[in-house]
Amino acid sequence: MKNQKIYILAIESSCDDTSAAVMCNNKKLSNVVATQKIHEEYGGVVPELASRAHQQNIVPVVHQALAKANIDKKLVSAIAFTRGPGLLGSLLVGTSFAKSLSLGLNIPLIEVNHMQAHILAHFIEDQESKIPEFPFLACTISGGHTQIVLVKDYFEMEILGETLDDAIGEAFDKSAKLLGLPYPGGPLIDKHAKNGQPDKFPFPIPNVAGLNFSFSGLKTSIKYFIEKETADNPKFIEENLEDICASIQSTIVKILMRKIKKAVKQTGVRRIAIGGGVSANSGIREALQSAETKEGWTTYIPKFEYCTDNAAMIGIVGYLKFLKGNFAASDTTAKARYVIA
Ligand code: KG4
Ligand code: ZN
Repeated sequence: MKNQKIYILAIESSCDDTSAAVMCNNKKLSNVVATQKIHEEYGGVVPELASRAHQQNIVPVVHQALAKANIDKKLVSAIAFTRGPGLLGSLLVGTSFAKSLSLGLNIPLIEVNHMQAHILAHFIEDQESKIPEFPFLACTISGGHTQIVLVKDYFEMEILGETLDDAIGEAFDKSAKLLGLPYPGGPLIDKHAKNGQPDKFPFPIPNVAGLNFSFSGLKTSIKYFIEKETADNPKFIEENLEDICASIQSTIVKILMRKIKKAVKQTGVRRIAIGGGVSANSGIREALQSAETKEGWTTYIPKFEYCTDNAAMIGIVGYLKFLKGNFAASDTTAKARYVIA
């Protein structure tokens, strides 16, 4: 099996990105993502529009992935797809497509948990990033998720903490919306924060038990703060945008870093792997980098391509499951709520 070339065609459609990738063992040959712009004008993902867009995108995206990888579909060893968690209508498109293709090509089908895939994306072999050793702590931080997971082995994971309400990306996006910034506002907060003073407007850090998170209180306190300040000065946001963004970002970074520190203390594990779209945030990256020296941690951030929703991360899980002969039944179904086993 070791020298054999296994080609996995992977499909991801859990939220608002339609993606297909081809992997050759643990290496990516192609990773095509069609991002749905339609949601921007609504200020968030509209599930019905997402599933319609997936239906339009899936065939061309799969074609492109095969063409970029320069392999014929007859060479594909198995089809991997995101079974869940995610939006049901979106998942159904990828699941049905994957099932039909595996039947048509008469090759195995492999179901993948999207959250596990965010974590195992660290194992895509790539010259630019280092691969974590077990055990490590994985923080999946995106517009849809916020979790701290103890990863003991590829498929041995324990969720230590997660958000009780909004995801960390939503905290960025909803705060940005309150400032009148377009969706998704996370990258804009990051951009404006670069020239601002992070301690200018202190926002409260929520007191949440254990390793769980809560971000809805932060959004409420920012809302009241903005309402109060703009009542006194209608130009308050405009005149203080950089300091407000820096203050919001530093609060979110503090919330995250405190929980990671707590998880390190609780488990004794000092290897920290970050994934999900929010890992692009420069405040989080800086905080992690300085923890390498200050706390003695080893931190892992994969290439941004593998941080946001993408099919290559589904493909690496497909490959690891293929090696174990862990295939799905042909009557498998999409699963909107799908907890890491
Ligand atoms: O992983 P992702 O592409 O999609 C899912 O949510 O699954 O993550 C998107 C999220 C959005 O909330 C976006 O605002 C946030 O990641 N994001 C950022 C940055 N870049 C993306 N948040 C803060 N700073 C950034 N630089
Ligand atoms: Zn995701």
